[in-house]
Amino acid sequence: MEIILAENYGFCYGVKRAVEMADEAANSEGKSYTLGPIIHNPQVVGRLESKGVSPIQEVADIDEGTMIIRSHGVGPAIYAEAEEKGLHILDATCPHVKKAQQDAKSVIEDGMTLVILGEKNHPEVKSINLWANNRGIIIEDEESAEKLQIVEKMGVVVQTTFSQFKFNSIIEILEKKSKNLKIFKTICNATQERQNSAVDLARNVDLMIVIGGKNSGNTNRLAEVCRDVGCTTYHIETSTELQLEWFNRVQTVGVTAGASTPDWIIKEVIETMKDFAELLAAEGQEEFKKGN
Ligand code: F3S
Repeated sequence: MEIILAENYGFCYGVKRAVEMADEAANSEGKSYTLGPIIHNPQVVGRLESKGVSPIQEVADIDEGTMIIRSHGVGPAIYAEAEEKGLHILDATCPHVKKAQQDAKSVIEDGMTLVILGEKNHPEVKSINLWANNRGIIIEDEESAEKLQIVEKMGVVVQTTFSQFKFNSIIEILEKKSKNLKIFKTICNATQERQNSAVDLARNVDLMIVIGGKNSGNTNRLAEVCRDVGCTTYHIETSTELQLEWFNRVQTVGVTAGASTPDWIIKEVIETMKDFAELLAAEGQEEFKKGN
């Protein structure tokens, strides 16, 4: 059985940076906290907790120590609240998200109507809007774009993980909604690259294993695009979920992982699959001998 890794998989730049910052905080003096789970991966969150970095729900939960802001970012009020309390802030907001926040702020400052393309309830989208005093109109699809009123000047900022395809079709509609349309291309290509690599691989293997948190949107999407091209796909969080019978008569297995899946989990999965491959090969030889 051949195991093939996708060309692009696992931690993206922003997540890697955030986890490294949290690791550093764990090794330094004083207590550290992350505002919300650092990433959508329970194993990483658990490992940090065992090193003394625990997630908190809100700034009010602590009175001292270091507070780490995760890659999705937060609004300006959180910085102010933490500073007022004298907390040390470690800002792990992904630079791509920071750029989107600043672009949204400038759209409002320049007197334009702000439209944010993204999921209303996603923490990143909320944080972008907070930098624009919550004055952005958040839309997710073509239907809501059609409903927008015609305005003099419009600025568009996009959730970093938004689909490029959807972006193109919504922009076509928005072009009819304002003569002065300024588009900030804030989509980050890490997600798209992972999806493209997963699809390329899924088309050429018997089975796909997608590794990542069950609550991770981008990992779920990876599994979905693999299934969409007709490849049998299993989404697992850790190697313990792998089942020997999945690999019966399988010759090629593709592996990919969401942007919040650490390398050590991916390695464990691959090692377990190699063990399975050896087992299945040994069983096959036994049967062959019996048949003769
Ligand atoms: Fe940043 Fe892109 Fe990752 S926005 S957190 S590098 S998916």
